[in-house]
Amino acid sequence: MIKVRELTKRFGDVTAVDALSFDLRPGLVTGFLGPNGAGKSTTMRMMLGLDRPDAGSVTVDGRSYVDIPAPVQEIGAVLDAKAVHGGRTARAHLTWMAQAGGVPRRRVDEVLDQVGLTSVAGKRIGGFSLGMSQRLGIAGALLGDPGILLFDEPVNGLDPEGIRWIRGMMRDLAAQGRTVFVSSHLMNEMEETADHVLVIGRGRLIADTGIAELTARSSHAHIRVISPQADRLGDLLAGHGARVGTGGAGELLVTGVDASQVGELALAQRIAVHELTPVRASLEAAFMELTAQEAQYAAETARALAHEGSTR
Ligand SMILES: Nc1ncnc2c1ncn2[C@@H]1O[C@H](COP(=O)(O)OP(=O)(O)O)[C@@H](O)[C@H]1O
Ligand SMILES: [Mg+2]
Repeated sequence: MIKVRELTKRFGDVTAVDALSFDLRPGLVTGFLGPNGAGKSTTMRMMLGLDRPDAGSVTVDGRSYVDIPAPVQEIGAVLDAKAVHGGRTARAHLTWMAQAGGVPRRRVDEVLDQVGLTSVAGKRIGGFSLGMSQRLGIAGALLGDPGILLFDEPVNGLDPEGIRWIRGMMRDLAAQGRTVFVSSHLMNEMEETADHVLVIGRGRLIADTGIAELTARSSHAHIRVISPQADRLGDLLAGHGARVGTGGAGELLVTGVDASQVGELALAQRIAVHELTPVRASLEAAFMELTAQEAQYAAETARALAHEGSTR
């Protein structure tokens, strides 16, 4: 378990990270969300001991990262995939990393295979696409077979195939029981990937919540029902405490009951149902609602996230 407590970092007048506290649990993908400049990278750098906090602490199973005897076997990280020596081949780069980290050399071919780079292992990194560089970065992070993985904006600039691959990889790593912590400045990007999200704005924690809880509890969550007898079904549901809105022809948007209740009630009255779909709120909508009553910075954060989401 990683515990971050009251972590604070200032750069001159800017408080990049402001008394941030959270836990990261194994077996989950935890999304770390906030607009550009929110303090995500600075937090991750402090977690890895690359930046010194002005206050607060990060511990991994009770120990500070700098006190861990074999760090690459505890935490793997990809902060900047392009920050590698372009003249080396992928295999040479990983072999050098393995030696520096005290990891057996056979791991190099294992991780190359794991990220799908075996066929280009002898090619110079300088000629790699961004997607290949990301895979190489992940290979490096996996070398020591660590239980904790940190990825800073790993899908930035990737094509849809690369994004799909990274998402699948994160889910797999979490399913193996690892702690996976991944940042993004795009709220909705994490919807399909993360189990849990931490949202920060201006270095401060805004939300720390499970995605399912957040999106299911939101008033934007509803059940979409299509029936040739929508009017009759709507009246029936309303009589059982549901709130019923109408959409297109024959369509009902229902809240206050669950999908199984809708199905059972329709069956009991022999009303045909052509479609019955629970619709979760989008992460963005749920988050806006969660923070509606909070300070101005939360709304600004949400707007910045929404804006960046719509322009990319
Ligand atoms: N080395 C640095 N020197 C000065 N300011 C920095 C430095 N690194 C980050 N900052 C500032 O700290 C804030 C948080 O930055 P960062 O952690 O990179 O945010 P994010 O990764 O969420 O985009 C920003 O205002 C940024 O300009
Ligand atoms: Mg960053």
